[in-house]
Amino acid sequence: MMDRKQRIDALANEQILPEEELIALITDATPESDEYLFEQARKAREAVYGKAVYMRGLIEFTNYCKNDCYYCGIRRSAMGAERYRLSEEQILDCCEAGYGLGFRTFVLQGGEDGYYTDERILSIVSGIKEKYPDCAVTLSIGERERDSYEAFFKAGADRYLLRHETADEAHYRTLHPPELSLTHRKQCLRDLKEIGYQVGCGFMVGSPGQKAEHLVKDLQFIHELQPHMVGIGPFVPHHDTPFAEEAQGGLELTLRLLAIIRLMEPHVLLPATTALGTIDPRGREKGILAGANVVMPNLSPQDVRKKYMLYDNKICTGDEAAECVKCLERRIASTGYELVCDRGDYR
Ligand code: 5AD
Ligand code: FES
Repeated sequence: MMDRKQRIDALANEQILPEEELIALITDATPESDEYLFEQARKAREAVYGKAVYMRGLIEFTNYCKNDCYYCGIRRSAMGAERYRLSEEQILDCCEAGYGLGFRTFVLQGGEDGYYTDERILSIVSGIKEKYPDCAVTLSIGERERDSYEAFFKAGADRYLLRHETADEAHYRTLHPPELSLTHRKQCLRDLKEIGYQVGCGFMVGSPGQKAEHLVKDLQFIHELQPHMVGIGPFVPHHDTPFAEEAQGGLELTLRLLAIIRLMEPHVLLPATTALGTIDPRGREKGILAGANVVMPNLSPQDVRKKYMLYDNKICTGDEAAECVKCLERRIASTGYELVCDRGDYR
């Protein structure tokens, strides 16, 4: 077996580590080895993206969802969730405010809500692209037919986020009801990539029942798919779900995985997520210092913010978009990196 430093060096030299070494890398760390890992991750990220941190404006346009994932606060069985939908006009208003604040990427995220038919999504996407041809549009609206994905792409959607949640079949079944399958999730991701989207997969760190072996499968799946983006954040329990009493994911483990992903896939766009900022007051800054290079502040109207509660204690739900941008600018400057107004495409 290698020692801690040898593993990190091997990864930094883009060597593929065997499974037992990856497990050791994930589980056997000290504060010193983590600091060395983060330093290597920062070097890797700077070699590709320099000091830039890209911002994406997140528009949470519906919290209706037909799915019932056991971890999620807007699952269809979460009776406490007060449901809302934004109109096309409201979405365009969010983009207008966001454009003025410097956003050049809009992420439309929502539950799997049948109200938003292909026609409605097409109209929203083309509406945004018409008004803001210099901006990227990212969709994060779950599993759809390949034909729908193709139509959205033709209408101008540039990117698609669809977390795989866990790359282990058995673990996937413990997080989701039987009608959802990892096989179908992976098929969607492959379709999206083939169609030409910049694609993001991802998973929760510390989800109930997660083992180091599962995380190794996540890393192997990422390496196989070669996505442009990887969204990871700690699992945070939501009181109105079957996982209400489960422990939240750990800060150190999440940071370690961010750094490992950065070293394995140096070109990937890697957000320091809101969930990471929720479990630690400086979580997002720590994420940036572990190799992340994207932040996704909220552009949703203030009156719906608190209703898009995927997990308890979510940060920034009371703040105006403009405040979040200022706040993030300061936070990122404190790390020595720089928040930039740019589409921030994959390099
Ligand atoms: N804790 C952390 N992340 C969550 N997500 C959903 N519920 C939770 C939770 N309780 C994540 C999922 C989903 C993304 C939109 O939010 O990974 O893909
Ligand atoms: Fe939203 Fe700091 S980023 S308040």
